[in-house]
Amino acid sequence: MAGELLIYGSYGYTGKLVAKTAVEAGMIPILAGRRTEALEAQALELGLDHRTFSLDHPAVVADHVGQVDAVLNCAGPYSGTAGPLVRACLRTGTDYLDLDAQIDILEHVATRDADAVAAGVTLLPAVGFSVVTTDCLAVHLADQVDRPIQLRLALDGLQTYSSGTVKSILEGASRPGAVREHGKIRDVPVAWKTREFAFGADEEPKPAVTLPWGDISTAYHATGIPNIETYATVPAYARTAMERAGWLTTVVASKPVRGALEVVARAVVSGPTAAERAQSVVRIVGEVESASGDRASARMRTPDTYDLTAKTAVDAARRVLDGEVPPGFWTPGGAFGPDYVLGFTGVKREDVDTMEPPRVESPSG
Ligand SMILES: NC(=O)c1ccc[n+]([C@@H]2O[C@H](COP(=O)([O-])OP(=O)(O)OC[C@H]3O[C@@H](n4cnc5c(N)ncnc54)[C@H](OP(=O)(O)O)[C@@H]3O)[C@@H](O)[C@H]2O)c1
Repeated sequence: MAGELLIYGSYGYTGKLVAKTAVEAGMIPILAGRRTEALEAQALELGLDHRTFSLDHPAVVADHVGQVDAVLNCAGPYSGTAGPLVRACLRTGTDYLDLDAQIDILEHVATRDADAVAAGVTLLPAVGFSVVTTDCLAVHLADQVDRPIQLRLALDGLQTYSSGTVKSILEGASRPGAVREHGKIRDVPVAWKTREFAFGADEEPKPAVTLPWGDISTAYHATGIPNIETYATVPAYARTAMERAGWLTTVVASKPVRGALEVVARAVVSGPTAAERAQSVVRIVGEVESASGDRASARMRTPDTYDLTAKTAVDAARRVLDGEVPPGFWTPGGAFGPDYVLGFTGVKREDVDTMEPPRVESPSG
């Protein structure tokens, strides 16, 4: 493998898993972030070099980023980190990867496609569980029918959260809900639609509600499908609360409310233990429809989101360093193809032969 990798945010919950996985894979990444003490301890433990720099001064960021071949940004929420690091990467000809799954930020990175091509830079965000799994499923489904026009992706079993993920989710609450319609992102109330999905072969379908996953951005760029909805199963009480809240969820996004919730998230959410992660399984269903009414569906089963994230992120970074992904903006499924995710232990996909039209409740709000 050619080239040096810098992992920014390497001492966060996920950054630590990523750095350890990179070392286990035989890589020698440089650790980076804004806190010297945390970096020194981690560098000592893993026997790696480290760089301390904040993202406040573009010249400083460019100076550090320009010394490596690729940056893997594990510092989220990405509203504060993707912009400065992407700009520095474009300025210095350095490839960029991250674990983002927030629609608006992914859309912003996508707008830099032409700049990236001109600079010879690969921009490959969202190389964590979200969206590697669903993006590969979307690309797989798009190949199953002629002229696909509607995609639905649904997740069941999301149970493990780090404080960084909770902060990112809270931040994402500034957009209560979103779907893609006719190629454009449309704001909708949270839990706008409820729809049933069969997550297992011999299981009763379960209700899931629309939630704004990153695929509203990435699946469109990967497949060109103009209408996309993303769903997740949530407990019945939460579904009712979300449906009642509708557009009012923007209150959660107000600065004082969000600030208070972030403090709580920092205090009470330390991230799942290795044992908790080992117990966790996520199930995904995807459905696609064509202009002529043809339909296809597939299910996927994956291990815990954080363990899988560490593996996919490190593997994607290695491939980018190896020059496998040309310059420009890419999604994981677009860069590596629909079967990429099947190469990771514990990930299974099955096509579903026939599909009864599921029960859909009318949009609320
Ligand atoms: N796509 C996926 O499937 C997936 C999976 C896992 C995680 N994630 C995302 O990855 C991100 C990190 O998650 P986590 O669990 O590692 O959270 P975490 O434990 O809170 O760690 C976040 C890290 O980011 C750093 N950071 C945050 N804002 C920064 C800024 N403005 N400048 C410099 N450093 C900054 C923090 O540094 P300080 O400690 O110095 O503040 C910390 O090292 C989240 O956005 C999460 O949603 C995505």
